[in-house]
Amino acid sequence: MPHLQIAVAASGAGSNARKIFEHFQQSPLARVAVVLCNKPGAGVLNIAAEYGIPTLIVERDRFFKGDGYVPELKGIDLIALAGFLWKVPQPLLDAFPRRIINIHPALLPKYGGKGMYGHYVHEAVLAAGETESGITIHYVDDQYDHGDSIFQARCAVPAGASATDIAQAVLQLEHRYYPAVLEDVLRSLP
Ligand code: GRF
Repeated sequence: MPHLQIAVAASGAGSNARKIFEHFQQSPLARVAVVLCNKPGAGVLNIAAEYGIPTLIVERDRFFKGDGYVPELKGIDLIALAGFLWKVPQPLLDAFPRRIINIHPALLPKYGGKGMYGHYVHEAVLAAGETESGITIHYVDDQYDHGDSIFQARCAVPAGASATDIAQAVLQLEHRYYPAVLEDVLRSLP
């Protein structure tokens, strides 16, 4: 059976993208075929180059008002968002039904939605006095951080923890689980 093809969409530091590249580097199941990024200069582009993965810089107008880069993604089986902050436009959602997945650094449905990214998430968790946080891996739909959940993992928020402490614990969970969950989803594709 030929390799399934993954597109990773990421526009930040790319630590999750790196874990995904590592995981599928020698995989008989799937390979990362392309990285989509909306930020020239983003760390993830260097990481993709390290792994010899082609990159595509997506431009706002074509992404939102044009074809959503569907033609470039022909042959892709699954799109994994890993720090990609733009909402996914309808042409892409239509072309990839239940085949676009996101990871969010909190236990959705809490602490999701527009503006809930990076340190804002962990500060909100802290301000609410939560005793736990975690990650949510979910299908992407037309709203931010909203589609059906696939997987969650939790970590404690100990008394006196800072937002940075929570960020670290959550990132560890992301690195540990995201590639494996993507693999499970790939195995169960129709
Ligand atoms: C992660 O926390 C992920 O949950 C969120 O964006 C962050 C990306 O971090 N969607 P990195 O670029 O993978 O280090």
